[in-house]
Amino acid sequence: MIDPTCRILGTGHYAPERVVDNAELEKLVETSDDWITTRTGIKRRHIAADGEVTSDMAAAAGRRALEAAGLNAADIDMIIVGTITPDTPIPGCAVQVQQKIGAMDIPAFDIAAACAGFVYGMQIGQQFITSGAARCVLVIGVELLSRVLNWDDRTTCVLFGDGAGAVVLGPSDLEVDGDDGQRETGRAGILSCGIFTDGSLASALHIPAGGSASPLDAQKIGDRENKVHMVGNHVFRTAVKNLTSSSAQILKASGLTSAQLDWVVAHQANIRIIHQVANRLGFPLDKFVINIDEFGNTSSASIPIALDQAVRDGRIQKGQHVLMCALGAGISWGAALLRM
Ligand code: ACO
Repeated sequence: MIDPTCRILGTGHYAPERVVDNAELEKLVETSDDWITTRTGIKRRHIAADGEVTSDMAAAAGRRALEAAGLNAADIDMIIVGTITPDTPIPGCAVQVQQKIGAMDIPAFDIAAACAGFVYGMQIGQQFITSGAARCVLVIGVELLSRVLNWDDRTTCVLFGDGAGAVVLGPSDLEVDGDDGQRETGRAGILSCGIFTDGSLASALHIPAGGSASPLDAQKIGDRENKVHMVGNHVFRTAVKNLTSSSAQILKASGLTSAQLDWVVAHQANIRIIHQVANRLGFPLDKFVINIDEFGNTSSASIPIALDQAVRDGRIQKGQHVLMCALGAGISWGAALLRM
């Protein structure tokens, strides 16, 4: 039996007020509610207001996670933000979050692992807590993708939404048993976690210009090279394969069987990816927390938003086993199995 060293103390999320449904997108590009719903499972998504920035959303989610943990900003000693859409290229989004929540003089940094950024952040936070270098780490997944989408490109603009989710990680000092008394008493916490990258697929999902390889100029901006480009079906096939293999690997490493899993919180990129992963792993679909219909793909925010919703509405309970898995640009992916 694995004795975890680090657990989730509290969760939180934030979604912008404005909701854009598929009918509204039908007016922008040649698409239909029927195509978007059947090919992706998305019905609507939240879009940030003018003037709202990534760190506003991240700070709101972070504050809610701290509140749920019964802590305040002075209690945390590290902020990790998974994002590919920071407020500015320099400095990172975590720096702005630190200011906004009032957590001074602690390390605050971003992880640019796209949709896998939150799982990357969880494993990094876990390592700092396990080593004793940190006691309490705020891990946030946040994305404001609506500002880096080409709103004339129907193959990408219908897929994404804005939002933020957060967890507070701390030492695993909580003994839990399942509410139904069926599980062994043990410590809550992360039982196993793994993160992976295959850079050979980097161009399947990228923003081509704006970095050292292709500094921005008027021509590139006109050609929308500063916006998201994706070969969707390559990413789709890789997502099904890698989410399945990493989930199976992390489940095995945890020493649990699939029957002992209570919930799967998978990255919400496409309902068909979730169905195929569930099918390949032999996990019943009703074990999956699904909110893609309401949020679209919020990249690194998707897992912590879904997790927080399921914790707050009582689906996920103390003592239960939760598997998380995510994949995005990189291609980077990861999975984690924890006991709440
Ligand atoms: N409306 C109508 N038709 C469309 C739309 C649209 N919005 N988008 C594409 N189509 C058309 C295409 O043009 C194509 O038409 P054609 O056959 O005439 O050429 C047809 O639909 C099929 O296109 P595909 O790309 O093959 O469609 P697919 O079934 O693969 O669905 C999708 C596309 C939804 C993008 C899917 O491939 C997908 O979900 N991929 C994975 C996305 C993902 O997981 N991304 C990772 C995370 S994101 C991150 O890291 C930031």
